[in-house]
Amino acid sequence: MQNLAVKVADNLYWVGAIDFDLRTFDIIVPTPFGTTYNSFLLTTNDGNVLFETVKEPFHQEHLERIENVIGKKGQINYIILNHTEPDHSGSLNYILEKHPNATVIATAAALNNLKFISHLSTTVKTACSIKLKSLQVGKYHLKFLIQPFLHWPDTMMTVIEELKVLLPCDFFAVHYAEPKLFDDQVEGKEQVLEKLYKHYFDAVMSPFKASVLKGVQLVETQMGFPVEELQAICCSHGLIIRKDIKKIIEKYKEWSEPQILKNKIVVVYASAYGYTKIMTNRIVEGIRSVGVEVSVYNIIDTTVKEILNDFKDAKGLLLGSPTIVGDATPPFYELLGHMNPFIYSNRLIQCFGSFGWSGEGVKNLIPRIQQLKVKEVNKPLSIRFRPTKEQETECFNWGKDFGTKVIDYHH
Ligand SMILES: Cc1cc2nc3c(=O)[nH]c(=O)nc-3n(C[C@H](O)[C@H](O)[C@H](O)COP(=O)(O)O)c2cc1C
Repeated sequence: MQNLAVKVADNLYWVGAIDFDLRTFDIIVPTPFGTTYNSFLLTTNDGNVLFETVKEPFHQEHLERIENVIGKKGQINYIILNHTEPDHSGSLNYILEKHPNATVIATAAALNNLKFISHLSTTVKTACSIKLKSLQVGKYHLKFLIQPFLHWPDTMMTVIEELKVLLPCDFFAVHYAEPKLFDDQVEGKEQVLEKLYKHYFDAVMSPFKASVLKGVQLVETQMGFPVEELQAICCSHGLIIRKDIKKIIEKYKEWSEPQILKNKIVVVYASAYGYTKIMTNRIVEGIRSVGVEVSVYNIIDTTVKEILNDFKDAKGLLLGSPTIVGDATPPFYELLGHMNPFIYSNRLIQCFGSFGWSGEGVKNLIPRIQQLKVKEVNKPLSIRFRPTKEQETECFNWGKDFGTKVIDYHH
């Protein structure tokens, strides 16, 4: 089967690749419908411009699609990389081999990444989009909208002003392998797609909500024309958006609204013989005594998803693990492994637990809690075997103190 380019607008072609079989992206993102690696080619009477490349194993079909537009002898003059993650930069060297005179344009952070991703030869011409701000090629003006952390530090978007087309790379993207390519040509999939867009946002963009809002603002104010006039959003994955432009922008705003955190604490514990459970019960009573809402989970009867879902709007989290064979119990590592500082550094998190002789349960959870860069408002609490009545009071007061700190905490 011949790998053909697809026309997107006058002189603008999709020349990417379709990965139907991908089921997991970036180790952590399920992709039940595969994905595409979108790359676009703008032809002008003063040179050709390639936007993004594709994941390395797909370089051959990428080259064929480019050739399908500009022929065997055609040359690419500029390669614009809005983001250097290897699913977009992985084929750069294959392109440069065929088009050695091309100038690679990207942000300073992206050009720096390329030194380590592509090991660019010193003969490769590069230009920094931050200094250029815009570029004229033939009759087209390309405008660079620099916005770091959509979703790497290197990211930007490019606007082709005359075509009123936005190329935002991963921003507004979706993992969906569909040969029809355009959102207005896919019928009856609206519900599935809505879920997939949200799933993509949650997995890729949600840790960077402040940058997302700045990115949306750039799109709304800096393209040089109103959003209403935008003809297409050419993302790096999934569908080219022509129909639902306004909808996806509004969704990104809605999904990035800062979460208002409540005076609420999620308490998660495990207990083999009930001693950490006694601690938990007293701590919860202490928290409730100052009027703070509490949810309590035995970690072996629930899922990480359920806990994190409940923790979304809570200021505080307390983890109670006993020590078993010189360590905290594994489900706590699973939970903490699903948390990261980009999302949770604005919370109050601490740990407690019962131990027998060496106490690593609490000791070993502390470094991970610190890695989340949370505020430390109280000390961890460890008790040897079964709490005494005095120690139960100590637990009550510890919970009360944490609850008070939660009330006083303004993030
Ligand atoms: C299989 C097993 C292994 C244990 N290993 C340790 C250990 O390495 N270090 C330690 O301090 N306590 C150890 N303990 C003791 C428990 O931490 C202690 O009994 C604690 O009070 C249990 O609290 P829980 O009833 O909430 O589970 C172990 C207990 C069990 C049952």
